[in-house]
Amino acid sequence: MVATLSETMRTLARHVSIHDFLPDPIDDSTIVEILQAARRAPTSSNLQAYSFVVVRKLETRAELATLAGDQRHVEEAPVFVAVCADLSRAEAACNLHGQPFRGDTLEMGLVATVDAALAGMAASLAAESLGLGTVMIGGMRNHPVEVARLLRLPPRAFVPFGLCIGWPARRPPVKPRMPERAVIHFERYDGGEVGDALAAYDQALAVHYRAQDRTTCDASWTHQVAHEFSSARRGDLRTALRELGFEFS
Ligand SMILES: Cc1cc2nc3c(=O)[nH]c(=O)nc-3n(C[C@H](O)[C@H](O)[C@H](O)COP(=O)(O)O)c2cc1C
Repeated sequence: MVATLSETMRTLARHVSIHDFLPDPIDDSTIVEILQAARRAPTSSNLQAYSFVVVRKLETRAELATLAGDQRHVEEAPVFVAVCADLSRAEAACNLHGQPFRGDTLEMGLVATVDAALAGMAASLAAESLGLGTVMIGGMRNHPVEVARLLRLPPRAFVPFGLCIGWPARRPPVKPRMPERAVIHFERYDGGEVGDALAAYDQALAVHYRAQDRTTCDASWTHQVAHEFSSARRGDLRTALRELGFEFS
């Protein structure tokens, strides 16, 4: 066991998604520093297959909030960063050298999406290390084509998720995670006692929500996940992503 936690580990341990933001602005130089830090994230084959679109205009944030399923925090946070999976520069490199672009594959779609996720997480961590609050917004995948149009994305780019950044107006308690034994394995996957772990987690999460006066059932996590997984979500996503130049099949 390490004797002391690093500052980075402390920042991660304090993480909680923020949904209530103060209207106070964040200056541009802070945003650029956060995103420059995030750009140090590792990237598959140095492709850097992601881009950030920083949205500060209220009207655009309001439109994105609606597209994300009326998520008011997207409008309220002073900055929204659309994290794009972006193969447009790879295509430009092919054009430059007279090579056909064969990046519309499942592999390259995954490469760009993983790159975007790593860079987005690094941006979130950098922002939180400065005391800012963040929440990621997968609701960007509700209407990927409309989001791409609104942000004038080039062909071969889409927004798998975005990031609200702002000064927290309210910081909820840190949300418990699944028991360690269910998630961290050594040498080989130990699938035993899943039921026990799920029961323990349901209980921990129910206690967490009740402490905040949020109505919940005792099986909070399993109930919600069973509900989510019992029908297909975003069934038209593949068609939308194909239109944007990504072949996930
Ligand atoms: C890729 C991704 C997409 C997410 N999308 C949303 C979203 O659309 N709206 C939202 O309120 N939270 C969203 N979240 C936040 C998660 O709900 C949150 O991280 C999770 O419940 C754990 O809570 P915590 O971050 O406070 O620990 C997203 C998180 C990730 C990683």
